[in-house]
Amino acid sequence: MSAPTAPLTTDLIAASSVRHFLVDTDLAPAEQAEVLDLAAQMKNDRFLHRPLAGPQTGIVFFDKTSTRTRVSFAAGIADLGGQPLIVNPGESQLGHKESISDTAQVLSRMVSVIVWRTYAQAGLEEMAEHATVPVINALSDDYHPCQLLADLLTVREHKGRTEGLVMTYLGDAANNMANSYLLAGVTAGMHVRVAGPEGYLPQPAVVDAARARAAETGGSVLVTTDPAQALDGADVVVTDTWISMGQEDEKEQRKTLFRDYAVDAAAMDRAATGALFLHCLPAYRGLEVSADVIDGPQSVVFDEAENRLHAQKAVMAWLLYRSGLASEPTL
Ligand code: CP
Ligand code: NVA
Repeated sequence: MSAPTAPLTTDLIAASSVRHFLVDTDLAPAEQAEVLDLAAQMKNDRFLHRPLAGPQTGIVFFDKTSTRTRVSFAAGIADLGGQPLIVNPGESQLGHKESISDTAQVLSRMVSVIVWRTYAQAGLEEMAEHATVPVINALSDDYHPCQLLADLLTVREHKGRTEGLVMTYLGDAANNMANSYLLAGVTAGMHVRVAGPEGYLPQPAVVDAARARAAETGGSVLVTTDPAQALDGADVVVTDTWISMGQEDEKEQRKTLFRDYAVDAAAMDRAATGALFLHCLPAYRGLEVSADVIDGPQSVVFDEAENRLHAQKAVMAWLLYRSGLASEPTL
């Protein structure tokens, strides 16, 4: 059992030594594998790691709504021996009455981990720059890295590995999930294909970062407007809502824009026999995925949802251990 070692005074921890998880590539390939191993260990023995014993507090801010992220972080912080403090939209001074930098410095003297679901990635970066405890991205407009840890854990469980598998994403290929599939997928050695309509493809900077990471791991990247090209022989097929949080005004237009990229039985037939179907949820049956696929035998979406808990516990513990803020138990 580790002793609580929260950095309650300014001189204990230099900000630069603290590890954060803001984007998928913040974990090097070997580090991502370590976190996934830890997640599997925690899934097997839920209370083995107690880096937040005390209980120390983990704060979880929401600027957008949530079910899975809220519950999995709340339960996960408690499982790690800590107590969660959930802050809903509009409940704190953050972002409207107080700067991110002041907030980061105040929170760092009181809590042991800062989790934040927000809009701009730049806000998370600023929080991390000024925090002396780990900051975790619980979804931004650009990335959803915690979700990808859960997805990769799910693929490992069902396929025995991630390396060398083809993972295909169809739909809004310019959104946070598409970016994270690219970056986390290649980090795990996967061949990641993303397909969406012209104008809704990932930014070149994300594709370049994914290609650079793929060169280290043996993975690869394909970006295309052709769903059939992306699907042929895929081992894992994934999609996400066509209308992300903040895009509600574009709902009607988006419902037709992505129609050719829906995952239905015909799309799954193009993938490899025994391909898995994943979706981060919430899902809209009849839009990005048909009911027969998401409720069918190839779907592992509820394993994926459960794995949010195990993956996030693992990343919180790993960041605390690697930042020198908690000691790893000797097992
Ligand atoms: N997948 C996911 O992040 O779900 P919530 O929006 O419910 O947290
Ligand atoms: N792309 C979606 C993911 C929801 C978990 C959104 O940002 O709303």
